[in-house]
Amino acid sequence: MENIVIQGGVPLHGSVESSGAKNAALPLLAAAILADGPVTFHRIPHLNDITTMTKLLAWQGAEVEYDDKNCLTIDTRNATKPEAPYELVKTMRASSLVLGPLLVRFGEARVSLPGGCAIGARPIDLHLKALEAMGAEIMVEHGDVIAKAPNGLKGAHIFFDQVTVTGTENIMMAAVLADGETILDNAAREPEVVNLADSLRDLGAKIKGDGTDTITIQGVSSISGGDIYTVADRIETATYLAAALITGGDVTVTKTDPNMLDAFLARVKEVGGVVETGADFIRCAAPERLKAVNIHTMPHPGFPTDLQAQFMAMMCVADGTSLISETIFENRFMHVQELIRMGADIQLDGHTAVVKGVKHLSAAPVMATDLRASASLVLAGVAAEGETVISRVYHIDRGYERIEEKMRSLGAQIERQYV
Ligand code: UD1
Repeated sequence: MENIVIQGGVPLHGSVESSGAKNAALPLLAAAILADGPVTFHRIPHLNDITTMTKLLAWQGAEVEYDDKNCLTIDTRNATKPEAPYELVKTMRASSLVLGPLLVRFGEARVSLPGGCAIGARPIDLHLKALEAMGAEIMVEHGDVIAKAPNGLKGAHIFFDQVTVTGTENIMMAAVLADGETILDNAAREPEVVNLADSLRDLGAKIKGDGTDTITIQGVSSISGGDIYTVADRIETATYLAAALITGGDVTVTKTDPNMLDAFLARVKEVGGVVETGADFIRCAAPERLKAVNIHTMPHPGFPTDLQAQFMAMMCVADGTSLISETIFENRFMHVQELIRMGADIQLDGHTAVVKGVKHLSAAPVMATDLRASASLVLAGVAAEGETVISRVYHIDRGYERIEEKMRSLGAQIERQYV
């Protein structure tokens, strides 16, 4: 078992580089299934979720070669198994991203249904409905989705009842090789969706409208291999900026993109933080004391649910009361009980957390419950005086590359403990 041990109470200062985004890299890797040649991926973060996705592609018969830690080449031309088994899917819900690409390439696919996860039920019904609209026959048997499209997938006009990020990505990939035109309405506008569309276009796909809520894809008969570049991780970027704000420090994140973080940076200004941005960097400096502000999570360009926990950690030590509403996932407040163990004053009222700021958090043993919840505990830990021990840190390794090393470079006293 591994723990993260933090001696907190030290303001963080300095500069740290953003990694490539996990949530961009996962659909990009799945897109290799569509390509008619080797695809070289650049700036892939070295994370457990990425390893799971590459294992899944290798299991299907793809050749996967690491050029270095953050660059790999995948050739799926000899892949023969259009399947994703439960052993791999259960550890990472985003494995369902292979469903659309496998179905359009092989005319069939068998992908295990992701189970519930810590932050809610997270079904994939919208992905399945869209594939059915494109002509697929779908059955669920023994926990697996069995999809067939013996005559290929046909373009269709799809309206997503709810904005779904991986749903938009899955169907966009299927539509790239489908017959005719597909229109995705109420599509996700996240930068990771745009990164996928840009990359697919570079390989020969015909896609328009990404970044808006209507995406139009004109099917083509094949796309080639080539080079693909992952965008910066906006959630990781904001987590290090939050580390500056919660500790009374001053941190610059480089190799990132301020345009992806408008909603977060607007809130940082409201809490009294200093924000400085350039083409590829963001600097945030803390005020004497953070001011409490309200947030509610929304699909992009709204405030990201993936930053709700980290922002709540900041609000725990702000001056005043903050209302934090979670509108995307029904159970994404697992960090609340752990933050309360560290002296936070938080009450839950349905989908809203009422956070009354306290002057100081106090170090305590706490448990990581999901990926972003764990990040909020690291933030609380670097702010709190004394020793915080975070257990079950495998959650954090799914999404944060070299977190102790990066935090240490900013002056944090943080170690991994093997017990
Ligand atoms: C992606 C991100 C995740 C982020 C989330 C919301 C990846 C790999 N993960 O997850 O980090 O927290 O977007 O920004 O990119 N829903 C349905 N039916 C569906 C699909 C979704 O009801 O078929 C619901 C979900 O339960 C949730 C909401 O729609 O309430 C949004 O989920 P979605 O955008 O699909 O999240 P993911 O794509 O899984």
